[in-house]
Amino acid sequence: MTPDELRELFLFEHLDDTQLAWLVEHGQVEATRAGDPLLSEGQPATCFYVLLEGTVALQRTIGGETVEISRTDHRGSYFGATQAYLGAEVASKRIYQMTVVPITDVVMLQLPAEEFGAAFREWFPMAMHLLEGLFFGMQNTQAVVGQRERLLALGSLSAGLTHELNNPAAAAVRATAALRERVAGMRHKLAMLAQGSIDAATLPSLVRLQESAVERVAKAPKLEPMAASDLEDEVGDWLDEHGVAGGWDLAPTLVAGGLDVDWLATALGECPAAAREPAIRWLAYTVETETLMNEIEDATTRVSTLVGATKQYSQMDRAPFQVVDVHELLDSTLVMLGGKIGDGVRVVKEYDHDLPRLPAYAAELNQVWTNLIDNAVSAMSRQGVLTIRTFRSEASLVVEIGDTGTGIPAAVQSRIFEPFFTTKAFGEGTGLGLDISWRIVVNKHHGDIRVVSTPGDTRFQVWLPLNPGA
Ligand SMILES: Nc1ncnc2c1ncn2[C@@H]1O[C@H](COP(=O)(O)OP(=O)(O)OP(=O)(O)O)[C@@H](O)[C@H]1O
Ligand SMILES: [Mg+2]
Repeated sequence: MTPDELRELFLFEHLDDTQLAWLVEHGQVEATRAGDPLLSEGQPATCFYVLLEGTVALQRTIGGETVEISRTDHRGSYFGATQAYLGAEVASKRIYQMTVVPITDVVMLQLPAEEFGAAFREWFPMAMHLLEGLFFGMQNTQAVVGQRERLLALGSLSAGLTHELNNPAAAAVRATAALRERVAGMRHKLAMLAQGSIDAATLPSLVRLQESAVERVAKAPKLEPMAASDLEDEVGDWLDEHGVAGGWDLAPTLVAGGLDVDWLATALGECPAAAREPAIRWLAYTVETETLMNEIEDATTRVSTLVGATKQYSQMDRAPFQVVDVHELLDSTLVMLGGKIGDGVRVVKEYDHDLPRLPAYAAELNQVWTNLIDNAVSAMSRQGVLTIRTFRSEASLVVEIGDTGTGIPAAVQSRIFEPFFTTKAFGEGTGLGLDISWRIVVNKHHGDIRVVSTPGDTRFQVWLPLNPGA
C-alpha cells in the first residue's frame, strides 16, 4: 500500500508522512477467503487488522453460545489487537476479545501488535493518557453495572417471590392445623358412635349421607354474605325446630358446604330422632374437613404454580439462548411482580397468540419486562391500568407496556436511557433500569426500544427481530 492509499482510510487520515511511511513499512496486505478463520477470541492478540475490502462478522462467546455482535463492510473498520497501545498491566490487551469471520472474500491490512502499540504510544502521548483513563473508567463502570444488574434480578426475584409464596403457604399451614383439630373431633365422634348411641342399622345410611354431603361441598356455590346469612337463618331455625341443640353454631358450616334445608329434610328423614344430633355433627365435621382439604389443595397448587413461574422467569436449567414464547415470559414476570404491582393496578393483557416463537435470551428479556413494568407501576403510584400488548410489525415482534401514569416530560425523554439518569428520590431509583434494558434489547437482540408518552398514556415498545440472523 502507498501512503496516499493509507491516508484515504479514516483511521489514518491525519497522520504525517513519517508515520504513514512507518505503516507502509510494517503493514502487510493479505487476502482471506470467505469462511476461512481470521482471528479467534481468546487467542494471543498479535495483530491489528484494518478492513480494506469485503464483509466480516464480529462474534463473541457469551454463556457458551456464539453471538454475532456486529457485521461490517465499512472500509477502514479495525479489529484484532485494538488495545495493543494500553499498558502491560491490562490483561485483556494480550488476547483477542472477539472472533472475526470473513463473510465474503476479504482484503485486510495487518500490523504487528507489539510494534504498532509502541509506535502509537510514542506518536500520541496525550491521547494515550486519555484513552487509558477512559478504559479504566469504563471497566469500573462495567463492573458496578454488572453487579447491580445481577442484584436487580435477584432482588426483584426474591422480593416478588417471598411476597407471593407467603400467602398460600400461611393459608396451607392454617388449614392444616384446623384440619388436625376436626379430624381429632371425628375420631371422638366415632368412639361415641361405636358405643352405640347410633344403632348399627343407621350407620350405613349415615355413611351414604356423608358421601352425598362431600359431593355437595365440591359443588357448593360461593355465596354473597347477604344470601349466606339468609340461608344460615333458615338452617338454624330448622335445626332448632328439629331438636338439634347448638344448631346455630353449625348452620354457617353446613351452608358453606352447600347443605340447605331441603337437603337436610330429605337426608335426616331417614334418621331416627335420637340419632339426629350426632348425625348432624358428624356431617358438619365432614363438610369442614372437605372444605379444609380443598383449601390446602388450592394453596399448595398455588405454591407449585409460583415455583413453576420462578423457573420460567429465571430460566433455571435452560439454555441462555433459545426459541421462546414471549407470552410465557411475560406471564411469569407478571406472576413474579404480582406483589409489587399490587391491587391498585389493573393488568390488561392484549396478547396476539398467533405470534411466532422467537430466538432470544429469555432470562434477560424477563429483566427487560421487569424494569419496564417496575417503571410503569411507580409512574402510576400503584393506581391505574397496566396494559401488556403484543403484536407483529414487519419483521419484528413488538411487546408494548403501557401505563396510565404521570407520563415523561419531553425534556426528560431524551435522557431516560442514560445510565444513572433518574427522576426518583435518592435511594428509590438508580437510573439503571432502562440502560440495562437498552443494552439487552438493542445490543444483544439487535432490536429497539421506543417510547411515546403523554400524561395518562405512556407506552414503551420493545421491538425484537423475528429473524435476528437476517
Ligand atoms: N413509564 C414511565 N412513566 C414515567 N416516567 C418514566 C417511565 N419509565 C421511565 N421513566 C423515567 O425514566 C427514568 C429512568 O428510568 P430507569 O428505569 O432507567 O431508572 P429508575 O426507574 O429511575 O431507577 P431503577 O430502575 O434503576 O430503579 C425514571 O426515573 C423516570 O423519570
Ligand atoms: Mg426503573
